Amino acid sequence: MPRMFVPGPVDVNDEVLHAQTQPMLPHRSQEFEAIFRRASEKAQELFFTQQRVFLSASSGTGLQEAAIRNLVDRRVLSCVNGAFADRWYEVAVSNKKGVEKLAFEWEQPVDPERVAAAVEKGKFEALTIVHNETSTGLQNPVKEVAAAVRTVAPDTLILVDAVSSLGGAKIETDAWGLDMVLTSSQKALALPPGLALAAVSDRALEKAKTVENRGWYFDLVRMEKHRLKDSVPATPAISLIFALDHQLDRILAEGLENRFARHSALAKRVNEWAESQRLSLYAPEGFRSQTVTTVKNERGIDVSDLNIFLKQRGMRLANGYGPLKNDTFRIAHMGEIQMEDLEELFAAMEEYLKQ
Ligand SMILES: Cc1ncc(COP(=O)(O)O)c(C=O)c1O
Repeated sequence: MPRMFVPGPVDVNDEVLHAQTQPMLPHRSQEFEAIFRRASEKAQELFFTQQRVFLSASSGTGLQEAAIRNLVDRRVLSCVNGAFADRWYEVAVSNKKGVEKLAFEWEQPVDPERVAAAVEKGKFEALTIVHNETSTGLQNPVKEVAAAVRTVAPDTLILVDAVSSLGGAKIETDAWGLDMVLTSSQKALALPPGLALAAVSDRALEKAKTVENRGWYFDLVRMEKHRLKDSVPATPAISLIFALDHQLDRILAEGLENRFARHSALAKRVNEWAESQRLSLYAPEGFRSQTVTTVKNERGIDVSDLNIFLKQRGMRLANGYGPLKNDTFRIAHMGEIQMEDLEELFAAMEEYLKQ
C-alpha cells in the first residue's frame, strides 16, 4: 500500500476499496435502506451523538454551505484562524448572510473569551469554528469555546468543521453542546472522497424550519424527512455508503479510544522528529493537531524535490497551504497511518536531507 502523508485524500484500505464494488441496489429498496440505517447508526458513535447524522453526496464544503443556508437567517459570527475557516466565512458572504469575521493570528488558537465577548455583543444566531485547521495543523479548543458561548448566549448555535479530525480526534457532539459537526470522507475516516457527514442537533433542525431560502439539495428539513425513512432526497452515493459501512466496522473494531491514542502518539512522534531535525512546528504547544502536523520549513527544503525522492519509495507529503505554501510543509498522520509508516518516512527524509 502506498503511503500518502497528505491531509486528504488519504490512502484507503483495500477491503474498503473493494466494498465499493458490490453490485448496485435501488436506493428506494429495503436492502439499501438497511445498509443506510446501519451506517448512520454506527456514524453516531463516531460523532458521540444520540442525535441524527446526515450522509450527503458531496464533499465537506457542501455541508459548510448547508450549515449557513439552514441555520443562519441574518447574523453569523465566523471565527477565523486559518484557510478553511476563512473559506466558511466566504461561504457565508456569498450566501449574502450578515457575517462578522472574528480574526485571530493563524499561529494562535481561537480564544473562548474573545468569542464569548463578541457573541454577547453581536446577538448572533450561530457561530462557525474549525476544529482542526488543516492549513496550520492547529486544533482549536472547541469544547471551551462552546462552553464560554453557552454562558453568555445559550441560543447561539455552534457550527463546527471537523473535516480533518473527526474519526481521528475525540469530538463529543452532545456533551460539548455542538449543533452541527461536519466532516468529509477522504480524511481521518480514510474513505474515498465524495461523501460528507454531519451530526445535527434537534434545536438546529428546529431553527432550520424557521429559515427561508434553504435551497433544495442541502435543505436539512427535507433531508431529515427522508432520513427518517433511511434515505436521502436525491440519489445517494451508494458505493461510498457501502465503503462507509465497512470502514465504520473497521474503525469500531480498532476502538475509538485506541484510534485517538494512535493518532495522538503519531502526532507526538512527528513533533519529536521535527525537533531532532532543527525544525519547529507552526501551531503552539497544547493546540497541535492529532491528525496533521504543519512544520515550518526553516531549512529551506525544496518540497517538490523531496516529494520526487519520496515517491520513488511509495510515499509523499504535502507542501504548505494557501499563504503558507512555501514557508511550511505538512505531514498528515490520519486514517490508516501507523507508527512504522512514519518511521519509514523519517528514515527516507533523513536520507534526503543528508544529501
Ligand atoms: C478543515 C477543512 N475544512 C474544509 C475542507 C474542505 O473539504 P472538502 O474538500 O471535503 O470540501 C477541508 C479540505 O481540506 C479542510 O481541511
